[in-house]
Amino acid sequence: MIYLDQAATSFPKPSVVREAVADSFQQYGANPGRGAYAMSLQSSALLWQTRNLLAAYFRAPDPQQIVFTNNTTQALNMILQGFLQPGDHVLYSSYEHNAVWRPLMAMTDKGVLAEPFFPQADGSIDWQDLEQKVKPQTKLLVCLQASNVSGAIFPIAELTAWAHAQGICILVDAAQSAGYLPFSLLDIPVDFFAFPGHKGLYGPMGTGGFYVNPAQPLQPLLYGGTGSFSMQAEQPAVMPDHLESGTFNVPGIAGLHAALQWRQGQEEAILSHVQQLTQQFLKGVSQIPGIHCFGPAIDIPRAPVVSIVLEKIAVAKAAMLLEEKYQIAVRAGLHCAPLAHRSLGTLQTGTLRFSFGFFNTAAEIDASLAALAHLAKGDA
Ligand SMILES: Cc1ncc(COP(=O)(O)O)c(C=O)c1O
Repeated sequence: MIYLDQAATSFPKPSVVREAVADSFQQYGANPGRGAYAMSLQSSALLWQTRNLLAAYFRAPDPQQIVFTNNTTQALNMILQGFLQPGDHVLYSSYEHNAVWRPLMAMTDKGVLAEPFFPQADGSIDWQDLEQKVKPQTKLLVCLQASNVSGAIFPIAELTAWAHAQGICILVDAAQSAGYLPFSLLDIPVDFFAFPGHKGLYGPMGTGGFYVNPAQPLQPLLYGGTGSFSMQAEQPAVMPDHLESGTFNVPGIAGLHAALQWRQGQEEAILSHVQQLTQQFLKGVSQIPGIHCFGPAIDIPRAPVVSIVLEKIAVAKAAMLLEEKYQIAVRAGLHCAPLAHRSLGTLQTGTLRFSFGFFNTAAEIDASLAALAHLAKGDA
């Protein structure tokens, strides 16, 4: 099977990740922060080592401000629901995933005012339009770093400078960029940064997290056991306990820890291999008649995600044929991002999405292009 749905979750994971997960079950799978015995302490140490690696990877000023979650969706919900109050106004890009859109829409019932802004397909911003949307009660701007539909990259450094100049905080959804596009929180001091552990970072599913600026504290979404301050009725104020209630996914975090170590020394190789595959696919697919490709022009950098439609075959059928006849796994439809499809004009058709990862090869891209050349002719 040629797996080209890396945007959903990366596959395969490095063998060291699989081994680290198995080790945690076999060697020290006790609950971290819950006991003073060696196995629990080992789990606790693993959490801190992983937090430190994540902070170093994203150049976060303080590892204590990194919070573990089970995925990006949970991170985004914790930020949005922990930060916004009734009466607040929030600006969100018209490319956001349902992991942002749905919580925002649910919060409008509780008095939050959510308003979209409309970047171009290449990711560029209409600054005048954005400026006109600002209100005295605008508290937050939400923008993904890269679209999970088109791969377009949005100008987060400029958006952050702009938002901060207006006294607005910024939340970045790095679901499709973490591990594929470098990000330094020291250089681009966004207030909230949500990331998956299981996509471009190559950790197991069930891992993710976020960074929160200490100057913008969040209300917890969950209250409960933290293994600390057990006598007190109130949720501990100290980070990260404040936002981390309940038992952690220790096996998953063990895998994420191994994945972060595995990248060290080969970061450049990972980023450039994935960019090369994306370019190879883009160049090839743009030469096949009967296929339309969305997003930025070919030579403009993008996340390793490419969406297409075929003139002669609906995207769902194309995905089915790719799997049945060519053993190629891709995703068809709206990719949980109807807003992005509305922006790209593909809400009715959906798109066929190809997304690439470190373990894909140039030969796999060639095989996919050959399969697409057949399908584009209407040949099943
Ligand atoms: C842009 C974007 N945001 C959020 C998510 C949700 O991520 P997760 O699957 O880690 O919850 C995704 C998932 O693909 C995504 O592409």
